[in-house]
Amino acid sequence: MSSEHGGAIHSVLIENRSFPPSAEFASRARVGSIEEYERLWTRAKDDPEGFWGEIAACLTWSKPWSRVLDWQPPHARWFVDATLNAAENCVDRHCVGANRNKAAIIWEGEPGDRRVLRYQDLERETAKLANVLKRFGVRPGDVVAIYMPLVPEAVVAMLACARIGAPHTVVFGGFSAEALAGRIQDCGAKVLLTADGGWRRGKIVPLKEQADLALATCPTVENVIVYQRTAHKVGFEPGRDHWWHEVTAEASPDCPPVAVDSEHPLFILYTSGSTGKPKGILHTTGGYLVGCHATTGWVFDLRDDDTYFCTADIGWITGHSYVVYGPLARGATVVLYEGAPNWPDEARFWKIIEDYRVSILYTAPTAIRAFMKWGEQYPLRHDLSSLRLLGTVGEPINPEAWIWYQRVIGGGRCPIVDTWWQTETGAIMISPLPGATPTVPGSATRPLPGVVPEIVTKDGKPVPVGHGGLLVIKQPWPAMLRTLHGDDDRYRATYWSEIDGCYFTGDGARRDENGNYWILGRVDDVLNVAGHRLSTMEIESALVSHARVAEAAVVGRPDDIRGQAIVAFVTLESGQSPSEAVRQELRAHVVKEIGALARPDDIRFSESLPKTRSGKIMRRLLRDVAAGRETVGDTSTIEDFSVLARLRSDDEV
Ligand code: PRX
Repeated sequence: MSSEHGGAIHSVLIENRSFPPSAEFASRARVGSIEEYERLWTRAKDDPEGFWGEIAACLTWSKPWSRVLDWQPPHARWFVDATLNAAENCVDRHCVGANRNKAAIIWEGEPGDRRVLRYQDLERETAKLANVLKRFGVRPGDVVAIYMPLVPEAVVAMLACARIGAPHTVVFGGFSAEALAGRIQDCGAKVLLTADGGWRRGKIVPLKEQADLALATCPTVENVIVYQRTAHKVGFEPGRDHWWHEVTAEASPDCPPVAVDSEHPLFILYTSGSTGKPKGILHTTGGYLVGCHATTGWVFDLRDDDTYFCTADIGWITGHSYVVYGPLARGATVVLYEGAPNWPDEARFWKIIEDYRVSILYTAPTAIRAFMKWGEQYPLRHDLSSLRLLGTVGEPINPEAWIWYQRVIGGGRCPIVDTWWQTETGAIMISPLPGATPTVPGSATRPLPGVVPEIVTKDGKPVPVGHGGLLVIKQPWPAMLRTLHGDDDRYRATYWSEIDGCYFTGDGARRDENGNYWILGRVDDVLNVAGHRLSTMEIESALVSHARVAEAAVVGRPDDIRGQAIVAFVTLESGQSPSEAVRQELRAHVVKEIGALARPDDIRFSESLPKTRSGKIMRRLLRDVAAGRETVGDTSTIEDFSVLARLRSDDEV
């Protein structure tokens, strides 16, 4: 946590509009009044084991638990001694009755190709791929890496791993070869599932090419299974590389799901923290799946006849919990779209909603702000009357974007669920229940049942109502992360040492007099750029790994569409002079090291960086500089921080 926040966060946003659920929505909803929500929440707080024990009956277990929770802070075991299989819960159990012919995945590729996988198709494809993985020596506990475009096979890949108890690690297709290699090396994956490429804005994303570069430094990967999506020519290493369609064609569709312990790892998902190296967030099977199933029901009020469209990629936690595990555990119909929202034009999402009669849309504030900028004419061209519920996730939503979303996309009739949660929390933590909670633009409103948050100073003292502070969670919950892969010390230090006895979220928040939570953003060195989480230090390490760079500091600058933009202050090695060419070279270097999502928007050269006497970079000052001035047009300009640095003392940082 950076010292500058210290728990005293100034909050300026005042928003008084409140929208109660309509009587019609409430009458059909699972939780239909605020009193019912409050009863559930209080029951869960007072008797978490009784509460979650009842909720967990929603899953199919192979063996029941002996205890609901074993809590040895900061380590939790949920549904102790029970066994189950996540793929069986998400697929097989829906194939026994009429739902076997229900659409599990309705997919649309960016070029316009379409496919529907019914639950029984998903079962067959998953079982075949699982048999292939077994043939390649994957055993329960072995990690499988997934680096794929958003095609149905990406979901099949995750579920095939789950079927045989092999934890998956999905790496977003926008990450570079270096980033992929780092993640594979950290988790020691044995097999890589990838594709020749994917489609994005009419161009091929060269996944196999990046994978080949990565694999040069990943000796643990013995076999690579390549899904053919773009059919352009790619390198192929005989013995190591196999075409997906060839190996699965020979595979048996019969592969019984392996019942694993409730605490068996389901996946590792890497995310950025406040130090250079990404963290491998470890989620296990029983608690995670209970959390996803329960929250999908409460928050999306998902019903059998819904058509649900979550726009996240499976490379992020939203894709794990609310494209795959939550909705499929409930037997829902999920719409998947491979490409960009503005391809071939800015109406793509609205066309998808009209074509498939989507009833629930879950997307990110950054996308909503882009839709606003593109203009109402695009959604107005399409019939969006099938929508009944809207959701947002990933960053605070400004009230203006919220109101636009409600009016233009929701036609004034759809409740909006602003869902606060994190890769670490596994499932939604703070959100309205659409039939119960009055919504307030910009507020994620109230904690879900089983979630006990508090807002505290850095000494752990609760702050008064209306004051900003640090958001912590006081009780364990089933979908919580269990540790960081291979680094339990960092797990303890990052989440459980800042505030005594509590899970520290890294976010600042405020609670108003109505009990609504307002998330104020990160209080650590984590950026949120277009809903993607990035570490300033990760970008700094990428920059200093370039031979010309002596030192670098990266900060966020407010950005109207993407929430934050990336600004890097760079000191070059002596003898190097700043120029536009060097600036471009450094931007390209960051793309190579991490991926295009981390490309600095602005690189400013400086002869030295402003530091405190103890050597800490004065980030607040850099943030002010980054926010307050236009991009320097003269490429040779050098910022001079030496005077400022001398004027500031350590306490002021
Ligand atoms: O700062 C919060 C912000 O996103 C962070 C978590 O990022 P990540 O692990 O990538 O997960 C994103 C998808 C769950 C949080 O610490 N955040 C997420 N949702 C919201 C939010 N900030 C405000 N309002 C939200 N609804």
